[in-house]
Order: sequence, then structure tokens, then C-alpha cells
Amino acid sequence: MPALPARAARSLLRAVPLRRLAEPGGSLRWSSSRSPSPRLLLSTPIFYVNGPPHIGHLYSAVLADALHRHRELLGCEGGRLATGTDEHGLKIQAAAAAAGISPKEFCDRVSAEFRELFAQAGISYSDFIRTTELRHRRAVECFWAALQAGGSLYQADYEGWYCTAEESFLAASQVMECPDAQGRKQMVSLESGHQVHWTREENYMFKLSEFREPLQRWLCENKDAINPEPYYQQVLQWLEEELPDLSVSRDRNRLHWGIPVPGDSSQTIYVWVDALVNYLTAVGYPEEHRAWWPRACHIVGKDILKFHAIYWPALLMAAGLEPPLRLWVHSHWTVQGQKMSKSLGNVIAPKDCFQHYTVDGFRYFLLRQGVPEWDCDYYDEKVIKLLNSELAGTLGGLLNRCTAPALNPSGTYPIFSEACFPRDLGSGSGKASVEDYKLVSLVEILPLKVSTSFDRFQIYKALESIMECVRQTNGFIQRHRPWKLCPEDPAQRQWQETILHVSLECLRVYGLLLQPVVPDLADKLLSRLGVSPTERSLKNLNFLPRYHGGKCSFEGRKLGPDPGLLFPRLKKSKASHCTDP
Ligand code: MSP
Repeated sequence: MPALPARAARSLLRAVPLRRLAEPGGSLRWSSSRSPSPRLLLSTPIFYVNGPPHIGHLYSAVLADALHRHRELLGCEGGRLATGTDEHGLKIQAAAAAAGISPKEFCDRVSAEFRELFAQAGISYSDFIRTTELRHRRAVECFWAALQAGGSLYQADYEGWYCTAEESFLAASQVMECPDAQGRKQMVSLESGHQVHWTREENYMFKLSEFREPLQRWLCENKDAINPEPYYQQVLQWLEEELPDLSVSRDRNRLHWGIPVPGDSSQTIYVWVDALVNYLTAVGYPEEHRAWWPRACHIVGKDILKFHAIYWPALLMAAGLEPPLRLWVHSHWTVQGQKMSKSLGNVIAPKDCFQHYTVDGFRYFLLRQGVPEWDCDYYDEKVIKLLNSELAGTLGGLLNRCTAPALNPSGTYPIFSEACFPRDLGSGSGKASVEDYKLVSLVEILPLKVSTSFDRFQIYKALESIMECVRQTNGFIQRHRPWKLCPEDPAQRQWQETILHVSLECLRVYGLLLQPVVPDLADKLLSRLGVSPTERSLKNLNFLPRYHGGKCSFEGRKLGPDPGLLFPRLKKSKASHCTDP
């Protein structure tokens, strides 16, 4: 019976209070076992300023932003989103030297580029941390003191391969010999291909080896601490091997661009220790963090998993703090099958993409196509095809059809007729078909489906579900051809208005749910429907109340002004890079 799924869906929604759905990143099972707290720090990695931002950086930021906005949509106010720039280390020092300016000047310049990009991309961060800020230096110094007080640091001669590009020490098994362009012998990192150098100096060492078991225990007790699952397994596998102690400082003569070790000005703190502490700086460490920590959820790319899943929790434990609540890990964007790199000249600049595809168009593309488990390939035709098909065609077409003056000359939210669309299909009195009841059921459970997908870090799936409903709504209109009905005939007019009412109600749900991904486009859509800014949270959803015998506050209301096409079609070739008139 088609009416049953709708009822089942309604009771399911009622059974799961939205507050519970709002719990970050975990399953509903996880959420229900704890009292919900609005306090959650979502974070992006802090970005290296050795080069300008590219779409890989933007992807990390847009993922975090969409999760943050989704929590707000669910009514969880008071969460934070932290981002920022990672400004110390050898590679920044070298990039500044190559640019012929001081490291500080260089960092100011590139950090501002990231800030500008995030403003343009609508990244709704609450804090932007620069590791060169005084508040961060204080946090790092206190953290170092906590490590020292806990007995986790010692001094020793360190010898090993250091990869400046990765700002990382590598084991012998992670490097290989590979001649350079002139045929000279050099050693490179197996993973990145970047050159490594043998370094020997007296450093401070962190007793990472002592944390192998505590880390294993943490992961066994928190099976959803690292998502998606393959990354969790990968970390467990790393932990099957011995963990060598970690060198956490460098000779200041070689690395002067960084925070000096407190009490030993001959050493600079290792850039990754410095960088990771930014998550504590964001919550006011060492004075105010207790209200927040460990309610932190870090969004990170797969290349920095080891730093976040092994070094960071171990450092936190050593400093007497808990590991973060969760890590969400994403894969990488390649460009036409190749890794993005300056030397290949295939780096995609986000600003160009915004210009060609609009900010929301590009946000939609990244989140719709990006699958955290797999690398995703970028090429222009793919963006154009997706946006033309889904935003211009499927969604824009639906809005056009439902608001066209020819069908809706009064420009108001039309009246729903219970006689045409009775609650019970079995009554046989209405005009709605089995498929129409299925559509209503599908849209009723959509918010739950979308929230579950967000909770599982599967934003692409949330968008897939929304688009499927949009398609079904287009099918509903196509099936009943309201333009063929005669408005002069009262019965036909009633049915015509009901078709439009149901379609607009569906569109209202899609507009609300799309806000975290395409905030401006959703605003355009909702404004066109006459939905005011105070009516845009999921608490106000109340989909199709007339179908359930309730009152609809939109009925008879004037629609908003016509803004023109929701998303103008893009031209096929990137050479023209502009939208059709
Ligand atoms: N500074 C460190 C992070 C320190 S966090 C305590 C860093 N910076 S980064 O600028 O190199 O990378 C920042 C983020 O961008 C990482 O999550 C990284 O995975 C992501 N990306 C960089 N290139 C990428 C792609 N090609 N595709 C997707 N994301 C990638 O690492």
C-alpha cells in the first residue's frame, strides 16, 4: 500500500528527534547513547602557505563548511568551525627565500589569499588561526611544557631521512634512490617522489613508541573514531608495526622560522607539533579548552592521516588530554588522471572555477562528485555536464515549471485540495496516483536520509538522494500535465493548484536541505518561493501539512520576486567560460 511507507516514514522521523540527528559524524546509535551537546569544534587542516590555494585545499574547506552549516540547519547553534594557515617550517622558509622576501611578509601575503578565497567560497568559519600569531605560540609553549612535565620528551642524537616537502621524517623503507634530471644520485620519498636529506643532529625526541598500545586501545574502543572505515583499518594496520620515537625539534641554525623550544633557544619545535596544536588554540588552550575538548572533529586529507591518527592522539595523551572525537578523512582530486602539481602545470585555481561555474556551482560539483573513499578526477566537461544537468536542468527546470506565470498567473502559493489528494489512496475519490503517494513518502523521509548521509560523511549521497526526489517531482508534473488542465473548470483548477502546491512543497524541502551545500542558490530558490529567512531551519520544515489535515502557512501567500533562471546553463567549451545569456 503506498500510504503505508509515508506513515512509516513519519513515525520514523518522530521517533528520532532532530537534536539526535544533529550529533556529529556518528551513527544514530552512537548519538542516542550520549546526551547531545551543541559544542563541537569542526576543523579543516591549516593550509601551508608555500603556494597559492588550489581545489584540493578548497575541497577540505567546503566539506567542513557543509558539515558545519548542516548542524546549524538542524538547530545546533554554538558549534565552531576553525580553519587557518600553517606558516612555519623549512618549506615556508625556503619559499620566502626564493621569493626574495622575509618569511613574515611571505606568510602575510599567502595567508591573505586563503582568507580571501574562503570569504568568496562562503566558508563560514568562526576562527582563522595563523600559526605565527602570539596566541598560538602561547598554546604551543604550554603544550610543550605539558609534554615535558609528563616525561614524554628526551634529548638524543637523531639521524634519519627528512623530506622538506612533506615536513616529515621518513624510515629507510620509505625512501629510494632515484637520479635527478641531470642524472645525479639522490634519495627521494617513495610516496611523494620529493627529495629527502640525511640529517644528523641533537634533537628533542617524543616517546611515541610508548603509545602504540594506548592508541590501539583508543581505536578498539572507538570504532567510529576514524571514518570512512578503510582509513580506520589502515591506521590499525600501521599500529601493527613498532612505532619509532619521533624527533620533535630541529636545530635552530637550520630551521629558524618556527617557535623556539621553551628554555632552549638552540632548537625549533617541529612544524607538525606546532601545526597540530592549532586545534587547541582554536578552543582557547590552555585556559578555556576544557569546555570543548575532546569534542573536536577534524576533516583531513588522506595524505595527513598518520599525523592526525597517530601523532596527534599520542601527543594529546602525553599532554594529559583525550584524543579528538572523530577524524573524517577524504581522498584527493586528480586532474585528468594525474596528480595536481606545479611542475605538471595542471594546478586548478579555485578562483577560475568560481568565475566559470559560479561559487555555488563549484561547491555543488566538489561535494556531489567527491567521494571520500576514492580519488576523484577533475575535468572541465565533467563540471559543465553535471551542473547543466542537475542545477540548470533538473532543479532549475522544476522551479521554472512551478512558478511560470502561465500556470500560476496570480503568483501565489496555490491551494491544496484534500479531495484531489486524499490522505488515503484507498478511498478512491482523489486524482492522485500510486506514484504520487510514493513521491510524498520519499520526500517525507528525505530529511532523515540527508541527515544520515551527512552524519556518515557521505555528502555526495545526500545530494544524490535530493536529486532523485527532484527528478521524481519533475515526473509528477510531467505525469499530470497541469498546463493541459482548464483553469475555468473549478474541478480542473482545484487539481491544477494541488499539483503546483505539492510541487512547491517538495521544492521548499529541497531548498532547505540544499542550504549547507549551495547557500546562495538555496537562498535564491527559497526567496522565490516566499520562504522567509526565519522559516529555513529543519525545525520549520513541516512538509505538506495539508495532506495530514494541518494548516499550511504558505497557502495563498505571494511568491517572491522572479530572479530569472536559478542556474543559467553553461556553455560547452571552457574557452568561452561564461554562461549562456
Ligand atoms: N599544513 C598541513 C596540515 C596541518 S593540519 C594540523 C597540510 N597542508 S596542505 O596545505 O598541504 O594541505 C591541506 C589540505 O589540503 C589537506 O587536507 C590535504 O589533504 C588537502 N589537499 C591537498 N591536495 C589535495 C588534493 N589534490 N585533493 C584533495 N585534497 C588535497 O597538509
